Amino acid sequence: MIEKLREKRERARERGEPVLRDESFDLLLKTVEKYKPKKILEIGTNEGLSGIAMLLTSKDAALTGIEIDEEKIRIAKENYKEFGLEDRAKIFSGDASEILPVITGEYDFIFLDGPKGHYFEYSSFLLPILKVGGVIFADNVLYRGMVEGKAPHKHATIKNSMQNYLKAVTENQNLSTTLYRIDDGVAITEKLK
Ligand SMILES: C[S@@+](CC[C@H](N)C(=O)[O-])C[C@H]1O[C@@H](n2cnc3c(N)ncnc32)[C@H](O)[C@@H]1O
Repeated sequence: MIEKLREKRERARERGEPVLRDESFDLLLKTVEKYKPKKILEIGTNEGLSGIAMLLTSKDAALTGIEIDEEKIRIAKENYKEFGLEDRAKIFSGDASEILPVITGEYDFIFLDGPKGHYFEYSSFLLPILKVGGVIFADNVLYRGMVEGKAPHKHATIKNSMQNYLKAVTENQNLSTTLYRIDDGVAITEKLK
């Protein structure tokens, strides 16, 4: 199954889809394997390929995704079905900035992979719905080297949001965050209390 998924990822990448990079993908699966979450939230579903990988890795998990692009949602649903996962995965259609303030329930794993200029804004909604012992896996936190280096004016919003996100998750005493300098940068945050 995971081999078939890797092929799908390759084909989606060739079509120009923003597929999670390989090292980060392997780290995602290792992290899901370690924590074995039951309730996963994914901000930015795209075609559902990382969602499928997480569900195949954590066999008892249910996945909730948020995705703004209707066509991506259609493809993701088809993909979930192809892997027999349609009963374990649902998608909220719309803008995460509107959905996160009203989302209910608690999650023990959050994959933060939506619009890069909103991570800090989202964190204030995500931290309260993250269970103690749960994890936020945030991709692209070094954003092409711009978060720690220079960024052209047009990327200033992303740089600021990422810097504020990283500050928020590293300085909060209730959280433990590890930054991985792989691919585009991954931050894994565990909620300690
Ligand atoms: C990097 S891709 C997600 C990849 C996916 N997590 C994976 O690993 O296969 C980011 C996705 O976020 C979606 N997106 C962008 N802005 C959004 C928003 N405001 N609310 C919800 N989804 C958004 C995009 O349409 C895109 O499909």
